[in-house]
Amino acid sequence: MAVDVSEVSKLDVEPGTLPDTMAAWVIRQEREGEPTDAFQLEEIEVPEPGAFEVIVRVMAAGVNFNNVWASLGKPVSVFGYGDHPEYGHHIGGSDASGIVWKVGEGVTKWKEGDEVVIHCNQASYEDVEVHGLDPMAAPSQEIWGYETTWGSFAQFTKVQAQQLLAKPKNLSWVESSAYGLTYFTAYRMLIDQCKLQAGHNVLIWGAAGGLGVFAVQLCKAAGANAVGVVSSEEKGELVKRLGAVDYIDRNEFAGMMRKGGESPDEEKARFKESRAFAKKVKGILGDAPDIVFEHVGQATFPTSVFTVKPFGKVVICGATSGYTLDFDVRYLWMKQKQIIGSHFANAYECMRANELMAEGKIQPVLWKTMGFEGVPEAHQMLHENRHQGKIAIMVGAESEDEGKIEDGPGAIRAEVGA
Ligand SMILES: NC(=O)c1ccc[n+]([C@@H]2O[C@H](COP(=O)([O-])OP(=O)(O)OC[C@H]3O[C@@H](n4cnc5c(N)ncnc54)[C@H](OP(=O)(O)O)[C@@H]3O)[C@@H](O)[C@H]2O)c1
Repeated sequence: MAVDVSEVSKLDVEPGTLPDTMAAWVIRQEREGEPTDAFQLEEIEVPEPGAFEVIVRVMAAGVNFNNVWASLGKPVSVFGYGDHPEYGHHIGGSDASGIVWKVGEGVTKWKEGDEVVIHCNQASYEDVEVHGLDPMAAPSQEIWGYETTWGSFAQFTKVQAQQLLAKPKNLSWVESSAYGLTYFTAYRMLIDQCKLQAGHNVLIWGAAGGLGVFAVQLCKAAGANAVGVVSSEEKGELVKRLGAVDYIDRNEFAGMMRKGGESPDEEKARFKESRAFAKKVKGILGDAPDIVFEHVGQATFPTSVFTVKPFGKVVICGATSGYTLDFDVRYLWMKQKQIIGSHFANAYECMRANELMAEGKIQPVLWKTMGFEGVPEAHQMLHENRHQGKIAIMVGAESEDEGKIEDGPGAIRAEVGA
């Protein structure tokens, strides 16, 4: 059935009552491929909330790279896991702001009408890890809107009650819709995994990117000194504006990037460049970094291990340039350095990080706002690397400023970022 996109912000039901159907951008297994083909607008039945679940009316949604992978069906199709076999469709979207519309049995903390943002970690309450170790360690752990369906690119989304966080009043629907996934990941990496302290020196790769803009701000807020690596002067200026001591343009050290399969002579030349880079970092920070914030992977990892201070930490949550990492391990053991893997965040970390947003100590960084019709194109832009920063999608919201009910710094609008 054809869906009228211009009607998506309008509802004829009050909180507590769900309509039978909703508009949603849906991926189906038979059309996995380019995002502009894979995402199709469909009229879909609105799910009922199960026990400890909540249906949220989506006001705005954030775009992340994970649903580019969901479109492509690569490296694996999402249809093999999570709740996809049960429903047979994928509604993506792992970031959102919205209004609690209907609560399921057992939910006591949230009520219809509450304004919320949503963190993207789901886990079963029955897994013991949730109650004593960390929900991220639970066998049932999944990323909502990627490993599960009922994500945020629809008029309504179905989430676990523990995913809800109070929407910062100083931010609009749009501004609060697109920071969760990257910001909460950066928060866990620095604050909990690396015990970031005032006076620490930190090297941040991709400092104007989705994770980087928050890593830089967290360092500033904690009283740590950050140097950001970027690929243009424009991005460098943004990073300085966010609180970095200075930036390094990685194009000046292009030779340090590990491609894999280098000959001994090529590796020697590459390592020389890494040394020059480490010297530059030390020059800016006054010492080698206590922490290196990694997500680039293969290209930069040997340099990260070499550059971090003895007894320092390389914390890594991704591998954009390739996930098979190799490096000279002597620099690790002789200098007693640590490598720490990190993945998203638990609900408590999300809540703490979100409070900093509400206090205006950390700000979202937004590049573009698009209407609901923009979902496929936004993902296509990411896929083709035509984006320059974070994209938010208006769903229930009709303007960029709607939803802001208190004064505050709001989001930083940036023409750069990715
Ligand atoms: N595990 C998790 O929970 C989690 C959460 C969020 C993201 N991630 C992963 O982390 C990675 C980054 O995410 P993001 O949202 O920050 O992406 P992003 O917005 O695209 O930013 C990444 C930045 O890394 C830099 N970069 C890319 N390729 C590089 C290379 N070969 N060498 C050096 N720098 C390079 C780029 O900045 P410059 O060009 O300016 O250097 C780019 O802006 C992705 O792989 C993502 O999947 C993981």
